[in-house]
Amino acid sequence: MQLRVVIDRPWEVKADVLVVPIVGRPRFEGPLDELDRRSGGELRGLATFGELKEKRYTTTLGAAGYIPVTRLLTVGAGDGATLDRETVVRLAAAAIRRLGGRKAKHLAIWIDPLVAHVDGGAAAVAELVTRGIVEGGYDPRTIYRETVESAPPVLSKLTIVAAEAGATKSELARAAERGQILGEGANLTRTLANRSANDISPAVLADEARAIAEQHGLAIDVIEPERARELGMGMFLAVGQGSSNPPRMIVLRSGGEGERDTLDRHLAIVGKGVCFDSGGISIKPSERMEEMKMDKTGACTVIAAMATVSRLAPGTPLLAVAPAVENMPGPHSTRPGDLVRALNGKWVDITNTDAEGRLILGDAMTWAERLGATHVVDVATLTGAVGRALGHLVSGAFGRPQSFYDQVMGAATRAGERYWQLPLVDDYVPDMASWYGDLQNSGTAEGSLVKSALFLREFVTKPWVHLDIAGTAYYRKTMPFAARGATGVSHATLVELALAGAR
Ligand code: BES
Ligand code: MN
Ligand code: ZN
Repeated sequence: MQLRVVIDRPWEVKADVLVVPIVGRPRFEGPLDELDRRSGGELRGLATFGELKEKRYTTTLGAAGYIPVTRLLTVGAGDGATLDRETVVRLAAAAIRRLGGRKAKHLAIWIDPLVAHVDGGAAAVAELVTRGIVEGGYDPRTIYRETVESAPPVLSKLTIVAAEAGATKSELARAAERGQILGEGANLTRTLANRSANDISPAVLADEARAIAEQHGLAIDVIEPERARELGMGMFLAVGQGSSNPPRMIVLRSGGEGERDTLDRHLAIVGKGVCFDSGGISIKPSERMEEMKMDKTGACTVIAAMATVSRLAPGTPLLAVAPAVENMPGPHSTRPGDLVRALNGKWVDITNTDAEGRLILGDAMTWAERLGATHVVDVATLTGAVGRALGHLVSGAFGRPQSFYDQVMGAATRAGERYWQLPLVDDYVPDMASWYGDLQNSGTAEGSLVKSALFLREFVTKPWVHLDIAGTAYYRKTMPFAARGATGVSHATLVELALAGAR
C-alpha cells in the first residue's frame, strides 16, 4: 500500500472513497458544511434521515456529488472529550471494515476533525489512522481460503488529507509510515496466532521465527529438548513432553549480546507459546476448547514485536524469548503431582497440568536473565480469570518495582492500549506452598489471578511486568473495528517500550 500525504481541503482530493470523521453531534459548519454543499446536501440528508449519527464506530456510505471521489464514508467518533489514541485507531479500522466486499483501491482519510482531540496533533493522528486502516483491513478468513466474500478491500493507496496540518508534509508522511509498520506488525501477530494447531507446531513456530530473523538480520537460537534437558529447563520440558510435537525455546535478539539500550536496559520480552492447550492430563472441558490454539499468542506477539522494532529502529538492543510447546494428554504427559526442577533450581509440584503457562514462562524468564536481561516483560494468555474480571477490552497487568510498571504503562499509552493494574499480594504466597516441593503451580480458585502472577514472580529477579492478555488476545465475535480472532493486542506496547531505548 502506497502512502501519500496531501495538505489541502478534503473536497479537492481525488480517491475512490473519502473518509469523513464525525466528532460529537454532527454540526454542519465550516469544512463539514462545505463538504455537505459539494456533496449536493448528501451529508445533511443522511443526518436528517437518522442514518448519520454521533455514535462511535457507526458508518454511512453516501454519494459524493461534485467531490472527486465515488463515495463519502462517514465514521462516528463519538464524544470528542473521550477520544483517545485507541479510539482513533479503531475509527479508521471501522471505516475500512465498512467497505467489506466493495470495490475501492484508493482510500483518502480527512484527519482535521480528530486533531484537536489527540495529544501529539496531526502527526499522531496520521500515525494512528494509518495503523487503523492497516489493522482494520485484516481478515483472517483469507489465511486458508483463496476467496472471501465481503473481506475489506486490499488498498493500493492511502491518502492522508489535512488542511491545517500544524506539521510538515514529511513529518506527517513519516508518522503515517510508522503507523503502517505498527499495523503490519500487529497483523503478523494475528496471522501467526490465528493459524491452527495442526499448522503451527512448536517446530513450525521456530521456523517462522527463523524466517523473520533472516529477513531482519536478527540473531536466533532455538533450543531443542535435548539441550533444554542439559540446561535444566524442567518446567518447560514437563509441559511439552505429552505431545509428539516436541517443544522449542525460541530466542531472538537484536543488538549485541547483553548490550544496553539508551535507558541502560537489556530489555527482554517473553511470550507464552502454547500452540495448543488441551489442559494435558487435567484436561479441559470440550466446550470452546478450539480457542486454545490461541494460547500461543504471547509468543507470536514477541516474535512480531521483534520484527517491528527492527524495521523502525534496527539494531536496538532487545531480547525475545518464546517458549513454544503443545500441552497434550498422553502416555508421556506430566501427571498431577509430578515434581520437576525449574531452571532456577526451585522444585515445583505440578498439581494441575492446565496451569502450564506459568511453568514455561518461569524457565523462559530465568533464561532471559541468564542471557543478560536487566528488565523483563512477559505477555501471556495466562488465566481465564482475567477475562472474567476485565472483559475483552482491557488487559490485566502486574509488575514491580512500580517505576518499571509505570514505564511500561507509558508505552501502553503511546500505543493506545488499555491495561489495569492488579496487585501482587505477598500474603497469598503461603497458599502456594507445596508439601514436597518449594511451591505448587495451582491452588484454589480464590485469588487465582493474583496467584498466577505470584508464581511467575518466583522466577524473575529483575524489574518485571506481566501482561495477562487471555481476555483480550482474540475476539469471539466480529467488532465494528476488527474481525473475529486474534487482535494483536500488546504488540504496539512492547514496540513502544523497546523504542524508548533506541538510539
Ligand atoms: N490458556 C489458559 C488460559 C485461557 C483461558 C486463555 C481462556 C484464553 C482463554 C491457561 O493455561 C489455563 O488453563 N489457565 C487455568 C489456570 C488454572 C488451572 C489455575 C484457568 O484459567 O482456568
Ligand atoms: Mn492451561
Ligand atoms: Zn494455557
